[in-house]
Amino acid sequence: MTASRLRLGVNIDHVATVRNARGGTYPDPVRAARLAVEAGADGITAHLREDRRHIRDADMVALKEILTVPLNYEMAATDEMVGLALTLRPHAACLVPEKREERTTEGGLDIVGARAHLAPRIAALRDAGIRVSLFVEPEESVMDTARDLGAPVVEMHTGSYCEAVIDGDAARVERELSRIMRAAAYGADLGLEIHAGHGLTLESVGPVARLPQLAELNIGHAIIAEAIFVGLPRAVRDMRAAMDRARA
Ligand code: PXP
Repeated sequence: MTASRLRLGVNIDHVATVRNARGGTYPDPVRAARLAVEAGADGITAHLREDRRHIRDADMVALKEILTVPLNYEMAATDEMVGLALTLRPHAACLVPEKREERTTEGGLDIVGARAHLAPRIAALRDAGIRVSLFVEPEESVMDTARDLGAPVVEMHTGSYCEAVIDGDAARVERELSRIMRAAAYGADLGLEIHAGHGLTLESVGPVARLPQLAELNIGHAIIAEAIFVGLPRAVRDMRAAMDRARA
């Protein structure tokens, strides 16, 4: 299965990180979301963490109100967050680990170990019409579990691949990429929609964007970091162009 257009979800968490450094009202992540959409973002991603270290509850409400593109609500699979998502009704909810014990060794959500905990929460979100994705390591066995849990989407954690790119370790880059490729192909064959994200930069995005099974990338830190130098619209457009070049 080949996804036609690779969507770019822009994660605006770190605009809120800068705002919260002074505890005030600017820079406003909602303004950033507007600009990102004008510059070509296909969706906006925001992570309301349990400790509210960047995005606040009011940001999520405002994003839902103003956005004309899908809002992807990243959240821990807790009762508090599921309750908030059921009230907010975003387009999508991406379940992510926040605590050590929710993680696999590499960093994705431990959906095998947390199966019993996740199943009713995924069902509740799905029943409310919210598209659920699971942020997981790119492993074939994990794809089977995601399918069994009834999640229509998996987002593959690209952190290990991106670290290998930063380290300039070509052998590790190859190894991590082939892990991502195998998992994407396997998951897509199971009928899952495949997304990816975490740590992607202009330098590392190409080989991931090229994979035909991928439907969406969620990218935040590198875009917001680059925006300091070139402005947010251009940072979004440059990432979009790098994805399109890889896909062409
Ligand atoms: N996807 C998920 C599920 C994430 O948790 C994050 C990080 O918040 C991202 C994508 C974006 O990662 P980055 O900010 O490193 O681009």
